[in-house]
Amino acid sequence: NEIRLFCPATIANVACGFDVLGVCLDTVGDEMLIRKSPIKGIRITKITGANLPLETTKNVAGVAAQSLLDSLECPYGFEIEIYKKIKAGSGIGSSAASAAGAVFGINHLLGSPYTQTQLIAFAMQGEALASGAPHADNVAPALMGGFTLVRSYTPLDVLSLPSPEHLFATVIHPQIEVKTADARAVLKQQIPLAKAIQQWGNLGGLVSGLYEKDYDLIARSLEDVIVEPIRSVLIPGFKEVKEAALKQGALGSGISGSGPSIFALSKGKEQAIAVGEAMQRVYTPMGVAFDIHISRI
Ligand code: HSE
Repeated sequence: NEIRLFCPATIANVACGFDVLGVCLDTVGDEMLIRKSPIKGIRITKITGANLPLETTKNVAGVAAQSLLDSLECPYGFEIEIYKKIKAGSGIGSSAASAAGAVFGINHLLGSPYTQTQLIAFAMQGEALASGAPHADNVAPALMGGFTLVRSYTPLDVLSLPSPEHLFATVIHPQIEVKTADARAVLKQQIPLAKAIQQWGNLGGLVSGLYEKDYDLIARSLEDVIVEPIRSVLIPGFKEVKEAALKQGALGSGISGSGPSIFALSKGKEQAIAVGEAMQRVYTPMGVAFDIHISRI
């Protein structure tokens, strides 16, 4: 009658895949406990690790869970306890972890009536509350693991992509908060055709690189020419951190989600650790406090 969950952090977007390409991190995430309750509806009874509202309609886990519950007749309700480990506004899918965990757990306790795609759609309602836009690139990998591609939003069509064995992510999180809604508000609504051509070329190359286990192709394709140039001004030392990662041998580097976290992908764990050390060497003299995570992806 209850389920305890690990709700993973995610990098999404991954570089050239704005709002479509995400990947799950298995070394950082929240915990959640969900139990059936004789009281109908959703109640969030406890949150530790973050100052977030318990009120269902104001909490991403609550909104996502309620949207699932509204879609069926259920004679009982659910209580949710959230143990946040992912900092809000960090760029590694804090709200998505909560939304995905809530719908996954409740679906399990109901006997799994919903498909993964349906769960993504419910979880997106929580994301809409957090960012003002119901994007799926974080909730999809949080629910499905690995790399995911949102091929289409209407209708929702999400694909799992393979990941070559030696691919690792380094994520450095400078301790400032960037609200996703703000990082979306600065974006332009029109894209010059030449930039679009570069971006979809890179996205196709990256997907092919993942299938072909072609690390050089992954490296050539890991560039976002549309969103990163605009958003990177919100992140202290972004250019220097990215340069340090590339100089250390990372395959590529970019903004994780809407920032301020910066990710780099590397071939091999040793390389990912060395890249993390190079990134740290930029922030330490600047006096910027940070967290760092290394994860096989
Ligand atoms: N794809 C979204 C964005 C993710 O970059 O705005 C934010 O969590």
